[in-house]
Amino acid sequence: MIKIAIDGPSGAGKGVLAKALSAKLGYVYVDTGALYRAIGLHFHRCGSDGSDVARIASEVAGVEVDIAYENGEQQVYLKGENVSSQIRLPEISMMASAVSKIPEVRAHLLELQRGMAERHNVIMDGRDIGTVILPDANVKIFLTASPEARAERRYKELIEKGIDTSYEEVLADMKQRDENDRSRDIAPAIPAEDAVTLDNSKLDIPGTIQAALAIIREKVGEV
Ligand code: DC
Repeated sequence: MIKIAIDGPSGAGKGVLAKALSAKLGYVYVDTGALYRAIGLHFHRCGSDGSDVARIASEVAGVEVDIAYENGEQQVYLKGENVSSQIRLPEISMMASAVSKIPEVRAHLLELQRGMAERHNVIMDGRDIGTVILPDANVKIFLTASPEARAERRYKELIEKGIDTSYEEVLADMKQRDENDRSRDIAPAIPAEDAVTLDNSKLDIPGTIQAALAIIREKVGEV
């Protein structure tokens, strides 16, 4: 099986790249952030704000999360319920970020992620795929861009959705989240030693895909 890991900070375009590569190569795309979001949704529904770490740590093993594919799109199930839309709400992003710092949560999701890579050729995106989940991945790409470039993209997305914000606010949030993700004790969002860093600050989406394909070809040959 071929395993392609794509890690990097929020807003670098990991999902867009991973989806495009999955369509081109016919590999299964695994969006691992969705799993942390599903766990976040569960505890949000239980009335948690993410600060009750001991409770989350002790209960998470009983929270059943699974992945399925419908028309090639990843669907996430929480205790048998398809929650693929609900996990995208802003309050669930915050909960996902909170629960993702808890070692028991990460341990609970480890086998599901590794199992996907045992059964399929995968393109898996996340924060710790190259370092923890698939240390033996054939290709590891650390996709990044300057905070300013990522904030600019996120700002445009929010404005298009009709959400009132300013570029300065988005940039400040982005920098804060980068710091949280990089400095956390467990599975920090840093490149694996053998990852290739791809900075797409000055690349558009087709340019990013071409650059990633060049990295993949160099590692695994013609694809
Ligand atoms: O990629 P995303 O925004 O859907 O991720 C949601 C949260 O989950 C984000 O705060 C970081 C965390 N996460 C993680 O810690 N490890 C992963 N492999 C994927 C996401």
